[in-house]
Amino acid sequence: MSTPTDSGEPAGTPQASTPLSETQHSEPTTITVGEGTGTGGDELGYPVVVGNGLLSRLPDLLGTQAERVLIIHPRALRATGDVVREDLEKAGYTAMVAEIPDAEEGKHIQVAAFCWQVLGQNDFTRSDAVVSVGGGAVSDLAGFVAATWLRGVRVVHMPTTVLGMVDAAVGGKTGINTAEGKNLVGSFHQPAGVLADLDTLITLPRNELVSGLAEVIKCGFIADERILTLIEESPEAAQNPHSAQLRELIERSIRVKAEIVGEDAREADRREHLNYGHTLAHAIELAERYQWRHGAAVSVGMVFAAELAHSLGRLSEAEVDRHRAVLTSLGLPITYRDDRWNQLLEGIRRDKKNRGDVLRFVLLNGIGNPATVEIPDASMLYAAYQEIGEPVSGTTISL
Ligand code: GLY
Repeated sequence: MSTPTDSGEPAGTPQASTPLSETQHSEPTTITVGEGTGTGGDELGYPVVVGNGLLSRLPDLLGTQAERVLIIHPRALRATGDVVREDLEKAGYTAMVAEIPDAEEGKHIQVAAFCWQVLGQNDFTRSDAVVSVGGGAVSDLAGFVAATWLRGVRVVHMPTTVLGMVDAAVGGKTGINTAEGKNLVGSFHQPAGVLADLDTLITLPRNELVSGLAEVIKCGFIADERILTLIEESPEAAQNPHSAQLRELIERSIRVKAEIVGEDAREADRREHLNYGHTLAHAIELAERYQWRHGAAVSVGMVFAAELAHSLGRLSEAEVDRHRAVLTSLGLPITYRDDRWNQLLEGIRRDKKNRGDVLRFVLLNGIGNPATVEIPDASMLYAAYQEIGEPVSGTTISL
């Protein structure tokens, strides 16, 4: 947009070009989401490629008939967006960019309308394509624009954050925010492919990288215990963008998500398990007016869910302790101020998993065994809140 607004983009977000070099460190890994035909649109069966220097693979995902490509990126990644545009132009495409406000500020209907205007003014047809370059907010918005233009055009995501790689860019959730809340408007629109270029993590602020690792840990708790062991063996390597461990963590998390989405793309059942820790997390984000990072809120939310599961006899004390230990080892928060229960409960009641007045939580019956559980009595939630509560004067927010 010509006059992007200020936003909550993480402090220290690099303004310089995020590396998209062609330096090859090792062979890329391709993970397929679902078992479909891989033709894009609403189809499953698309590749998520993880590796270094992946830009040259973009044309393979754009489809054989695309002539025009709209690259949507946040203001903070202008230089990176230009690299992608120049590369596509060299490859013979008519490429253009839509620069949008950073972070959640980009997920507004006015921003989508701006993108539709660019598409209309450039005669975008059904065979042309949209590319997102950025974090989860950008893939949500770009996916929504692609889902709605001419009732759906191809979109390729190039996530530049851990959270984008392991969660937002994979699985086809798209959405924008309204005055009433986050992601209330959106659709499922699977990408034609995802390029998770690990080089982009080198300049990612550390707290942003660690925040994304909360979603990685979530995948460990719900489906792949090896993720937890890898972090326990070396929390330092887990945070190092050059390490083989971080690459393995990202690949394992994408495999968890790919497998679940392949089975339940539209969140009728099993996909809800990907929301482990998210019910309280969304309530915290709302209470904090979205000034907390999503991963930090998910971290606290997982400890809350673990305490709740423990009180129901589903998790042992040692398994609850393991939540605290692995999250703390990365510097993720595990407590929340103890004077906000009413506000949090209001947020919990708005959760999309609830049915009527029945509150539903994703809980673990042991590590790797999630289930969606109805909670008959809010007092059970309050008891779990007391286990994570921290006196306000002592509350420290580490991310
Ligand atoms: N972020 C959870 C999901 O994609 O289902």
